[in-house]
Amino acid sequence: MNEQQRKEMSQIIPGDAADRKSGQDKPLKEKTSDDFAKYFETTYEPPNINKARKRGRDKINVHYDFGIPEDIANIGEGKKFLIRTYGCQMNEHDTEVMAGILTEMGYESTADKNEADIILLNTCAIRENAENKVFGEIGHLKPLKLEKPDLILGVCGCMSQEESVVNRIMQKHQHVDLIFGTHNIHRLPQLIKESMFSKAKVVEVWSKEGDIIENLPKVRHGKIKAWVNIMYGCDKFCTYCIVPMTRGKERSRKPDDIIQEVRHLAAQGYKEVTLLGQNVNAYGKDFEDVAYGLGDLMDDIRKIDIPRVRFTTSHPRDFDERLIEVLAKGDNLLDHIHLPVQSGSSEILRKMNRKYTRESYLELVAKIREAMPNTTLTTDIIVGFPNETEEQFEETMSLVEEVGFEAAYTFIYSPRDGTPAARKKDDVPEEVKKQRLYRLNDLVNKQSAESMKTYEDAVVKVLVEGESKNNPDVLAGYTERNKLVNFKGSKSSIGQIVEVKITEAKTWSLNGIMVENTVEVN
Ligand code: 5AD
Ligand code: SF4
Repeated sequence: MNEQQRKEMSQIIPGDAADRKSGQDKPLKEKTSDDFAKYFETTYEPPNINKARKRGRDKINVHYDFGIPEDIANIGEGKKFLIRTYGCQMNEHDTEVMAGILTEMGYESTADKNEADIILLNTCAIRENAENKVFGEIGHLKPLKLEKPDLILGVCGCMSQEESVVNRIMQKHQHVDLIFGTHNIHRLPQLIKESMFSKAKVVEVWSKEGDIIENLPKVRHGKIKAWVNIMYGCDKFCTYCIVPMTRGKERSRKPDDIIQEVRHLAAQGYKEVTLLGQNVNAYGKDFEDVAYGLGDLMDDIRKIDIPRVRFTTSHPRDFDERLIEVLAKGDNLLDHIHLPVQSGSSEILRKMNRKYTRESYLELVAKIREAMPNTTLTTDIIVGFPNETEEQFEETMSLVEEVGFEAAYTFIYSPRDGTPAARKKDDVPEEVKKQRLYRLNDLVNKQSAESMKTYEDAVVKVLVEGESKNNPDVLAGYTERNKLVNFKGSKSSIGQIVEVKITEAKTWSLNGIMVENTVEVN
């Protein structure tokens, strides 16, 4: 997927608007910063597969006692917050949690930075350009902070888990008041208080993962689609990827907590949930007491009265037969699987530590297609991994054709400090990498356009999300197989699943007309 496609995909306006030291046994809200190790007090370590196996055995506790201490419960009254989110759905969802916490503290949200009393940048570290954008924004906010010294400016999310980023902010961006990591989100009330009453920068980043905190408040974006975390972290340690470091080890939420959250969303009228995790197929592997995996979870969620259930992101290595069997049952489990392949060359996959080969990926695709002949497959691909040869890149191109991906997020490899791949010498010039990306995008676009063509004159079910940003007379939403549809129809259908007759296929989207008298199809 290229920039243009990404933009097109985001053109819908929503229809509705651990390191523990001590204090281990205290309730969460009574803990102070002293109960937690602070800023990289434990030694920062780069990703390492042997360590990953060990960290997998650390015990994770689930806390159900989140609460905001009374002395700070109303600290935000009459004040406003703004959170700017970069990166993936996991970050978007973390923003919903932070918005929930701030709202409980009395803050109101604003989209105007000049009105805000607290601005948080929820950052992404996956590629260098994501980080550059954030540093640009930190710079832009400096005049505002100088003008309004009481403004709290915070940096959180994945970048704040990187020691080099924290050091750079400490040294060069004195106007940042608060830095906290992805495992410290539930500490936001205490961190804000510290920031309000101390002159110094407040930094709290656990360099190891925290526990699982349930019952965090959330202000969800819209009332139609919702994200539900099913697990946190990643232990796959792909050699190019920073996530195992920024998000910590794999840890799964208890099935009952997830099922209850989905049931609650269904009761509130949500029409779609997306189950979230960095590697959802590893769900349940950390349970010591029960054998319960993603397939089992999907089978239980299938029985809940919510029309649409999606999940992301899958790892081909852990995609097992039980899951395929359950997905094939259909119902509210949709005909779309996002299955990142990253490369079509077994040698590059080995260097990436992906733990599967081109052949085993193709076997998995064949099994999926046999069980679910109508499934749309989409993927993520990295071009220009260190020393990728022309032949190896061609293997990626041929794999894309062979599988027939209908969409793909495509990236040029970006070296990330501390990852094994970043230490490799790389003989592929940047220009060659760019050319490979263009060629790959041309192929993906061609396949996307071809798949769209097959929908001409067909009637599809669309979950109507809102008005198109470009034209308020046009509504937009997604089909079960995740195709964006723009269509003429009645505004009262926003939030419902309606039938749309497709009149025109474009490269990344479909145009159509709503079928009159559509009854809601659940
Ligand atoms: N460089 C480029 N792309 C990356 N991704 C992850 N790490 C990197 C990196 N260092 C891509 C992968 C992953 C997606 C979320 O981002 O394709 O699936
Ligand atoms: Fe990163 Fe995904 Fe690999 Fe985990 S499985 S290391 S999140 S690319």
